[in-house]
Amino acid sequence: MSTLAVYPGSFDPLTNGHVDIIERGARLFDRIIVAILVNAEKSPMFTMDERVEIARAVFKDHPNVEVDTFDGLLVNYMQRRKANVIVRGLRAVSDFEYEMQMALMNRELASTVETVFMMPAAQYSFISSRLIKEVFSLGGKVHGLVPELVEKKLKERVRSART
Ligand code: PNS
Repeated sequence: MSTLAVYPGSFDPLTNGHVDIIERGARLFDRIIVAILVNAEKSPMFTMDERVEIARAVFKDHPNVEVDTFDGLLVNYMQRRKANVIVRGLRAVSDFEYEMQMALMNRELASTVETVFMMPAAQYSFISSRLIKEVFSLGGKVHGLVPELVEKKLKERVRSART
């Protein structure tokens, strides 16, 4: 039986921590879907299309990584895609409480769905999309923390705001 995993999130933007988890998942599972939640935030930094485009470009050489979007309940999406594993990254103990609640709620909603937690490489353990947005918008460097394409798009955004 082949295992189809889903790695859900907002990915606004995709960080090197996400990339690390996706690469680990792609080695562990037959196939992994990066499932981007539609309309998670009212004013996202990147549109849905941009987030999809970025993730597809970053994983273009990974044949078992698919990028898709979903809305509504994650377990309903899992059922539609016939996937039974949710992948989530755990960076620190502070992530644990929220992640455990979600894992148990998803199990309550769909008893056959298992959540698998993976730890990113230590060098990425402090990165979050929220901090990337904050640091970049205040003029800090995000080089090495996000894929090059994300960095390029962030810089383009600043340039177009100036003109
Ligand atoms: O990027 P995030 O905020 O860590 O991702 C959170 C996400 C998308 C995994 C979560 O909000 C989610 O699954 N939303 C879909 C709606 C849903 O199923 N909610 C109940 C989860 S227990």
